[in-house]
Amino acid sequence: MKLKTNLEQMIPYKPGILKEGAIKLSSNENRLGPSPMAIQAASEALADVHIYPDGSCRKLRESLADRHGISAESFIVGNGSDEIMTLIAAAYIGADDNAITAESTFSEYTFATILYAGEIRKAPLNEGTFDPEAILQRIDDRTKVIYFCNPNNPTGTYVSHERLDSMLSRIPHDVLFVLDEAYADYSDADDFPQWKTLLKKFPNLIILRTFSKIYGLAAMRIGYAMAKEEVINQILVTKQPFNVNTPGQRAAEAALKDSEFYEKSRAMNREGKKYLYRELERLGLKFYPTQANFICIHVKRDSSELFQNMMGRGVTIRPLASFGLNEWIRVTIGQEEDNKLLIRILEESLKC
Ligand SMILES: Cc1ncc(COP(=O)(O)O)c(C=O)c1O
Repeated sequence: MKLKTNLEQMIPYKPGILKEGAIKLSSNENRLGPSPMAIQAASEALADVHIYPDGSCRKLRESLADRHGISAESFIVGNGSDEIMTLIAAAYIGADDNAITAESTFSEYTFATILYAGEIRKAPLNEGTFDPEAILQRIDDRTKVIYFCNPNNPTGTYVSHERLDSMLSRIPHDVLFVLDEAYADYSDADDFPQWKTLLKKFPNLIILRTFSKIYGLAAMRIGYAMAKEEVINQILVTKQPFNVNTPGQRAAEAALKDSEFYEKSRAMNREGKKYLYRELERLGLKFYPTQANFICIHVKRDSSELFQNMMGRGVTIRPLASFGLNEWIRVTIGQEEDNKLLIRILEESLKC
């Protein structure tokens, strides 16, 4: 059999190496665990798993509509926001088309584009941040999608509301702008983009969010997107009938109600960030100020070796060679004891 030509350069996704007993600070998960209300709802939903799930995720979309103050028809729910990235590519990208993103960013934008035989164009980051000008320069009449990660994974940096607004006003109306806000729940900058204002203004905008981060439901695989109804209806054409399982839908609905857990997660991140900034400065390590639940740190050496060393001592972090950042690592901000252990082990490993 011959693999399709567009897939020849691709390799299957390799999950990160995990070590039993080591604490996992490599995937930006919620170190508080899942919301207790979500666990309860998911457990109760197990009694219904002989019935196919609601393929339209009606109740979850209604809860999201209440939460965000837009119509339930403005949402699509996916098996993680990863799935939605692929559905978008299926809807809009074909051979001879291109999509644009940045050089050091989330890998699924490239995956989705190549899967549908498109060309992926990558603009360099500027000081670890998505560079609107560099992206605009790469647009041509075959550009169908722009994948824009804000805050950016793995750097944690962000582009402000004003800059994003001005960028969006220079993008052709037939290019879909995918604003991936997987980590926006953690942002605390005053000028962080207000997605609702932008959505009212730009019909070619779609915003991605996930329950995998602040809601602590990564294994449930629930992500969603918000856009004008016309865009959602186009993307819905590419969706499998039963893409989101019932325990996941119920867990997500319950998690939306658990404002105590949400606020606790935000507070943990705020405190952890303060502590880690202080400690990284003490260690003389450069890092990017973050709007997310992770920090990107310059370790001034091959980060893959450092990763092995730290894992041997009980902490798994993410070395960033696959993002083109060989001397950088990304660490999840955790609870107080996680952060203390991280710093102790980082300090020890840097001395080796
Ligand atoms: C920027 C970004 N978007 C999306 C995702 C995936 O989210 P989900 O678990 O909803 O597929 C991640 C996961 O790490 C991410 O970092």
